[in-house]
Amino acid sequence: MKWDNVFPGRDFRKDVEIVLGRISDVYGVEYPEGYVDVLVEKYKEKVPFPHVFIRTGEDRLKSINKDYQRILEKVKNGGKILDYGAGYGESGRLLVNDGCSKENIVMFDVVPKTKEMGYDLFLDQYEWDDNFVVANPEDFSFENEFDVVYSGSVFHCISHEDDRKKYLQNAFNALKEGGEFIGTTLGGNKSKDEYLFLPDKADFENYLRDVGFGEIEVKEGENPSPHGTGFNCSRLWFSAWK
Ligand SMILES: C[S@@+](CC[C@H](N)C(=O)[O-])C[C@H]1O[C@@H](n2cnc3c(N)ncnc32)[C@H](O)[C@@H]1O
Repeated sequence: MKWDNVFPGRDFRKDVEIVLGRISDVYGVEYPEGYVDVLVEKYKEKVPFPHVFIRTGEDRLKSINKDYQRILEKVKNGGKILDYGAGYGESGRLLVNDGCSKENIVMFDVVPKTKEMGYDLFLDQYEWDDNFVVANPEDFSFENEFDVVYSGSVFHCISHEDDRKKYLQNAFNALKEGGEFIGTTLGGNKSKDEYLFLPDKADFENYLRDVGFGEIEVKEGENPSPHGTGFNCSRLWFSAWK
C-alpha cells in the first residue's frame, strides 16, 4: 500500500501521529516513546481500512449517528449491543468511555487484522478478547440476543449480493423481538463505484424489508468527508426494528 496513493499528498507517519494524538486525548491512552515508528513500520505496507484508520479518535459514532445519545442510554440501562462490522472496535471503547459496561457490548468482524489493529491503537491487548468475535458470516451464531445492532459503514463494503443478504439476515436474527438495527452506509447510486456498493434510499429500504424488518426509517444526506477522504456519494442513516 502506498499511503500517498490512497490519500494523495498525505504523509503516513504524520497521520499515525495525528491518530495516536486523538486517541490519547479522547481515551487517555499513553504511548511509549517511539511508538509512532513502531506502528509505521508494522503498517506501512498495509493498513486495513485506511479510511477508517485516518478518522479513528474522531468520535465518529457520535458525529455520524445522531441517535448516539439514545443508544448510549439504552446500553447504560442494561441493553445489549452488537457492533456489527466493528473494524478496530472504536465504538465499543467509546461506549465504555461514556459509562457503559463492557458486559453489554459485543463486537463482531470478519477480518482478524481489524481486532489486532484495535489493540495496537488502544493498547488494551486481550481486554476485548471475550467481547470481540472474529468469524466468517456463515459462522455468525447470535440469535435473539441484542437490543441494538449497530453497524457503521459496512454494507457498502460488501461486494457480493449473496453476502449482502447474509449480512442483513444475520443482523435481523441477532436482534431480540422489538430490537433496533441502526447504522449508516454510503449510498446515492450516483456512480456504480468500482469498490463500493452504493444503493439508493429505496433500494436499501427494500433490502431491509426483504430480510424481515417491519418498521424502517432511512434518511439520506450528504456524506461528511473531512480531510478529503470521503467519496463522492451520499450517506444513508438507517434504523429498522424487528
Ligand atoms: C469501513 S469498515 C467500518 C468499521 C467500523 N464499523 C467503523 O465505522 O469504524 C467496514 C468493516 O466491515 C467489516 N465487514 C465486511 N464485511 C462484513 C460482513 N459481512 N459482516 C460483518 N462485517 C463485515 C470489515 O471487515 C470492516 O471492518
